[in-house]
Amino acid sequence: MAGRYGSAVFRSHLFGSATVVTADAEVSRSVLQSDARAFVPWYPRSLTELMGKSSILLINGALQRRVHGLVGAFFKSSQLKSQVTADMHLRLSSCRSHSLLLVQDLAKSVVFEILVRGLIGLEAGPEMQQLKQQFQEFIVGLMSLPIKLPGTRLYRSLQAKKRMARLIQRIIRDKRARRAASPPRDAIDVLIGDGSDELTDELISDNMIDLMIPAEDSVPVLITLAVKFLSECPLALHQLEEENMQLKKQKTDMGETLQWTDYMSLSFTQHVITETLRLGNIIGGIMRKAVRDVEVKGHLIPKGWCVFVYFRSVHLDDALYDEPYKFNPWRWKEKDMSSSSFTPFGGGQRLCPGLDLARLEASIFLHHLVTSFRWVAEEDHIVNFPTVRLKRGMPIRVTSKEDDD
Ligand code: HEM
Repeated sequence: MAGRYGSAVFRSHLFGSATVVTADAEVSRSVLQSDARAFVPWYPRSLTELMGKSSILLINGALQRRVHGLVGAFFKSSQLKSQVTADMHLRLSSCRSHSLLLVQDLAKSVVFEILVRGLIGLEAGPEMQQLKQQFQEFIVGLMSLPIKLPGTRLYRSLQAKKRMARLIQRIIRDKRARRAASPPRDAIDVLIGDGSDELTDELISDNMIDLMIPAEDSVPVLITLAVKFLSECPLALHQLEEENMQLKKQKTDMGETLQWTDYMSLSFTQHVITETLRLGNIIGGIMRKAVRDVEVKGHLIPKGWCVFVYFRSVHLDDALYDEPYKFNPWRWKEKDMSSSSFTPFGGGQRLCPGLDLARLEASIFLHHLVTSFRWVAEEDHIVNFPTVRLKRGMPIRVTSKEDDD
């Protein structure tokens, strides 16, 4: 029987499963780097009930690598980033001064529309609104009890998923009939364009919905947390504003619009996002299940046990970060982001394929906010369970900078 392993790696019981918890950066890194011969992903039952059988989040082996590779390459492509940048400009420039704005709600609405366009090519309109509503109905079941009887939360979620799948499969059929766009405009085009028999309409549509799960909430929370931390750190807000105002002025003087590469080149803005990821721990950790007895750096994880890789505790370890609870974007001037002590997007074969997109969307949102508005934040609190969010949705009182003149 496995004994206690020491303070950073210990045994526990999570979601009804015997689990080894690792808060040790090197042990965590080894688990992330392992493949399906040692560990497979593990999620609570209600979640696996809602995911398709061939969901990228669940499957292993060649098909997982193929879907991950195709979708990941598209998410990283310059073409998608340019489209996202143009879409976000359009969407955010229509935002006017509100007396009171809930950052979390605005970010959610903007990010969802951009995501759906990138995944299935749907434009804003009544179908987008329907999909938004059904996705909300679907997502509340993710943390419910795993009982599928009519009337239960899980049952209603599954019904919402069926309605979404019908809409998406119709889009896939239309695209196949017209032949998917080349170069691809969305993730469906990419998967159809691959021409593999394994990538059936059902598999593609299930995966489009399952791709919305890790993307839909995480980016809006990243944006909302950044606004919260900046509101509490005037020095950082001032430097962010200066950097972004300078870029805006430079581009206006040259008569150019901002491209995605401009946003990603703003070093302080990127430090703000990195620090928000570290301190905010949007995904606090991930679970794997051992398919055989696995020894990781001297620690035994018995076959059938789960291992919880606890990012949060590494990100807030005072042996790795000075004053870890302090929002300090300047620490990233020196620090290496690629070390095993910083893994907000996981690592190894399952490293988040949306990481560039997440950073880009957050950069554009912050750019618009700090260059167009001033704000005063109202009191709000971060809640960490069951998912990270702001209790009141981060209310801010905004005034347009144009009103200053
Ligand atoms: C701040 C935003 C985000 C954070 C913190 C985040 C975090 C993560 C983490 C930690 C994982 C690893 C899960 C594991 O190892 O089991 C992951 C996987 C994944 N993420 Fe993200 N993510 C974010 C945004 C996105 C976006 C925008 C997309 C898509 C557009 C996305 C799509 C995915 C997918 C598909 C996987 C599963 C990859 C696989 O198992 O092959 N994520 N994400």
